[in-house]
Amino acid sequence: MADNHDDHDEVTSPSNEVATVDDHAANAPATAVVRTDRVPNPGFPPERPRVADLDPKKEKQAERTISALFLLSVVGSVLAVVAYFAFPIDEANPGSVRLNNLFLGLGITLALLGVGIGAVHWSKALMHSHEEVELRHPTRGSDEARTKAVEVFSQANKESGFTRRSLVRNTLIGAVAATPIPAVVMFRDLAPQGDPVALLKQTMWDEGVRLCRDPSGTPIRAADVTIGSAFHVIPEGLAELEYHRIEEKAKAVVLLMRLPLEDLNEDPEKADWSYDGIVAYSKICTHVGCPVALYEQLTHHLLCPCHQSQFDVANHAEVIFGPAARPLPQLPITVDDEGFLVAKSDFLDPVGPSFWEINR
Ligand code: FES
Repeated sequence: MADNHDDHDEVTSPSNEVATVDDHAANAPATAVVRTDRVPNPGFPPERPRVADLDPKKEKQAERTISALFLLSVVGSVLAVVAYFAFPIDEANPGSVRLNNLFLGLGITLALLGVGIGAVHWSKALMHSHEEVELRHPTRGSDEARTKAVEVFSQANKESGFTRRSLVRNTLIGAVAATPIPAVVMFRDLAPQGDPVALLKQTMWDEGVRLCRDPSGTPIRAADVTIGSAFHVIPEGLAELEYHRIEEKAKAVVLLMRLPLEDLNEDPEKADWSYDGIVAYSKICTHVGCPVALYEQLTHHLLCPCHQSQFDVANHAEVIFGPAARPLPQLPITVDDEGFLVAKSDFLDPVGPSFWEINR
């Protein structure tokens, strides 16, 4: 390298003579790249001892403060759990959601801040405060480096007092252990409380409940269902539900179709589940729960658009193609005195995805 010039400072001329930046600047000052001043490495500032380094009383005080923060975190975790049960969400009272969220949030905030601030304060007030340079090195250290690492850990343990300061250590362990408790309690509450099969069989359908158009809720007469037609159906009363309307609809939606009697191939045991060629099947795919809404009139096939499962309406909605593992549940139907289509009972099979079969 030329004196005081690095590679970026040199420009090769067409005659292969090396020109310096200064030469170039002299010829075209407006376009020359001028080397910036190098900033000298300022190094580390001199280490200043902290009060906790000089005064054993202050050190003890810092230790107590840190422990108090960790204990505060435990209190926050407990508060979150208590708040979750003490302020339950009442769907009829929107103010209950606010209270529940407020106290739950306060508890979790306290729990996380207690651990976080306590750990930072521990490192700032009690742990060693030397600034150090860590050089980059290959990922796998040499045996010597690994031995050194063990030494560093031992030294860090010695300097932080992790094993020696049992009060700080144990309160930290307690705080960290208590922090996930609110999450465990809340996620546990998301799981179904009972047997999923029983829950999925229990819908709004019952003996005498009229089949109504979705979404208007008007009842359907058997005479309205012509051969080849298909109706999207909800149970009577669903449109008026104040709460859980979506959840109930997700389980109870039905597709209604009329087939020529000679095309229906019914199991004798289920022959009275249809009415004069009219059949009703759950609209929720038994694969992963998409709405099965495509009806092919000529073949009497129902197609689920999500993963192309096909069900044969003429044969109790058996699966004839695709990943669905079982037929669509059939809703037994008849007509009432006024000629309206009504359910004879609830579904006899669980509706929707068959995830529960894994455990059987
Ligand atoms: S959800 Fe219907 S085929 Fe997958």
